[in-house]
Amino acid sequence: MKQQKIGQSDLNCTRLSYGCMRVAGTWNPADIDPTMREKGKKAIVAAFDAGYTLFDHADIYCRGACESIHGEVLRDTPSMRKEILIATKCGIRFPGDPNPDSPHRYDFSASHILESCEKSLTRLSVEQIDIYQLHRPDLLMNPAEIAGAFQKLRDQGKVRWFGVSNFKPSFVATLQSMLDFPLVVNQVEIHLGRLDCLVDGTLDQCLERTITPLSWSPLGGGWLGSGGTVAEDHPEFDKRTRLLDTLDAVAAQYEVSRTVMALAWLLKHPAGIVPIVGSANPANIRDAVRADEVDLDRENWYRLLVAARGAPLP
Ligand SMILES: NC(=O)c1ccc[n+]([C@@H]2O[C@H](COP(=O)([O-])OP(=O)(O)OC[C@H]3O[C@@H](n4cnc5c(N)ncnc54)[C@H](OP(=O)(O)O)[C@@H]3O)[C@@H](O)[C@H]2O)c1
Repeated sequence: MKQQKIGQSDLNCTRLSYGCMRVAGTWNPADIDPTMREKGKKAIVAAFDAGYTLFDHADIYCRGACESIHGEVLRDTPSMRKEILIATKCGIRFPGDPNPDSPHRYDFSASHILESCEKSLTRLSVEQIDIYQLHRPDLLMNPAEIAGAFQKLRDQGKVRWFGVSNFKPSFVATLQSMLDFPLVVNQVEIHLGRLDCLVDGTLDQCLERTITPLSWSPLGGGWLGSGGTVAEDHPEFDKRTRLLDTLDAVAAQYEVSRTVMALAWLLKHPAGIVPIVGSANPANIRDAVRADEVDLDRENWYRLLVAARGAPLP
């Protein structure tokens, strides 16, 4: 796969990255059995063997179990560490953390960032995280406090670069104004089923500031992928069905799968969107890589955009 620079950092990654949210096969760590763990490890190894170099995690994915599964892979195959970049996230706290009646919330306090980072390092069995991201904007965030925590993690060598996720441009600008180093990624939901970031200033800001946009759920969580379907009672059934038909027609022209075309559509954007492929199935993980070879023309890019909008352009 081709490589690209990540933001203004000294890091490069492949144009498709691998997301580890599903490698435990569940969101409840109590449900994981040894077979599921092995399956998760195989998915990570399949992504590595297929050439993906950026692996995305979050502390909340199966409450840390996804990071731990990757940690096991890294202990089994220590040579993998230097070949890949590890990204993870903090800042979301589930209900019951730390007290039984604590609500679901976001927490960018310095103490939470620092503690979360320590825990992720331990679970992942690494000494340094390549890209540490704030998961969802904490409406109580104090940029100066975050900057202090980031600086400490940087000085201690625990994190190389920082990024954000689900941040609107104004949040990015405010946080950046307090930092002595550039934020290198903004991980957002952008795909053919979610077009907001194309027009709300997110991608413009990425272009202007050289921030790499990472696309989460690039297949909309699965329905845009090969074999994906739209539930008949879905409120956007007609629109989504027409989009899948158009996607299939364009994919057929390029002799690739629907999945590959949905990813290639993201890769066409000049902001250098890096889709985070989330499959836990080795065959699907390998198929997605073909998106890197597709040179989608403008006409077909717009054909898909119009189908995704469900309405013609003005
Ligand atoms: N920052 C955030 O707020 C946020 C939120 C959500 C996700 N994320 C990140 O984004 C990553 C990707 O999210 P996602 O898993 O929802 O991504 P996705 O690629 O949109 O969806 C993956 C799902 O699609 C299914 N799928 C069906 N057909 C497929 C095909 N032909 N090829 C590939 N997948 C197919 C997969 O099933 P199989 O496993 O059976 O292939 C899997 O269940 C996560 O791992 C995480 O790193 C971030």
